[in-house]
Amino acid sequence: MELKGLILSGGEGTRLRPITHTSAKQLVPVANKPILFYGLEALREAGLRDVGIIVGDTEEEIREAVGDGSRWGMRITYIRQEAPLGLAHAVLTAADFLGETPFVMYLGDNLIKEGITAFVDEFRSKEVDALILLARVPDPQRFGVARLEGNRVVELVEKPKEPPSDLALVGAYMFRPVILEAARAIKPSWRNELEITDAIQHLIDNGYCVEAHVIRGWWKDTGRLEDLLEANCMVLEDLEPRCDGEVDGESRILGRVVVEEGAEVIRSTLRGPSIIGRGSRIVDSYIGPFTSIYYDVVVEGSELEHSIVMENSVIRNIPGRIEESLIGKNVEIARSFDRPKTYRFMLGDNSRVGLI
Ligand code: TTP
Repeated sequence: MELKGLILSGGEGTRLRPITHTSAKQLVPVANKPILFYGLEALREAGLRDVGIIVGDTEEEIREAVGDGSRWGMRITYIRQEAPLGLAHAVLTAADFLGETPFVMYLGDNLIKEGITAFVDEFRSKEVDALILLARVPDPQRFGVARLEGNRVVELVEKPKEPPSDLALVGAYMFRPVILEAARAIKPSWRNELEITDAIQHLIDNGYCVEAHVIRGWWKDTGRLEDLLEANCMVLEDLEPRCDGEVDGESRILGRVVVEEGAEVIRSTLRGPSIIGRGSRIVDSYIGPFTSIYYDVVVEGSELEHSIVMENSVIRNIPGRIEESLIGKNVEIARSFDRPKTYRFMLGDNSRVGLI
């Protein structure tokens, strides 16, 4: 069966401001790889070659990062959504690209450890109109939840106070083109979005067959800072240690650490799992577990743990340990010994600073 892929990489990303004021959240690096690339790899692994990417205001940045897809042996089509009016709206925006072909829709900020190959294969082997991906969660109130009868989905409820099950919707869906009709038939929700859950419910209510596939491994929707840091931990857990950079004799490396090409580690302690990106310099510092330092970063006289630092940032002479932080691109956090002794900030809108 010919299948297309549709990755959603538009959206506003309000929960990740200020990072998303200037950048796409789907390009935030998790274990030094943009989140979106994990999705592209999952689609490729499942045998998809023809993939559309829904883009919004961050179109240029996403095009630059992904290119024509040849790196993954895929053909990428960029589809501009004029505003983030919902997941079902994104599907409608892609109508010309999708044509009459069944497709997988993948949310570009999601990470699914086991990939989607088994899910896609199940769809290929069945006659269903839609196959949704579910995972058991301890707190279903936070998610879209499905009620099943056997394998069949009979109801979907968004963030239910009294969840009918503990099966939450994960960010990947398989559809036949009839979903386009459903998306055209529904009305926007209270938040003025065309909801994919409403479109799927419309299919169910009109006698179409919607089934579920339940995953066992972890998955993360990285829309919030906590989840992004947790996704970083989970990916780092599987890190294969390697040292392609330079580590001097006065440094110590403990546990599973990756030092990428051109990175320098001087008089520092690195405790894994953690990763130091190419061209970064770690001097007189401590890099603790679950930390990802992207490329061309400088960390000097400082301690970091459980954090993500993006490219070209500088962290210098910070007396307390930095933890659970997401530091954007070209950020400078430095202690100055000048008088008067003051805090000096230049922070974007919605920035958050925690001081001790
Ligand atoms: P969400 O995380 O649900 O929405 P968002 O990106 O607008 O974030 P926030 O709630 O913090 O404001 O979106 C899931 C994925 O789908 C994400 O990769 C963005 C993408 N998306 C679109 O491409 N178009 C849309 O209309 C919406 C709502 C999301």
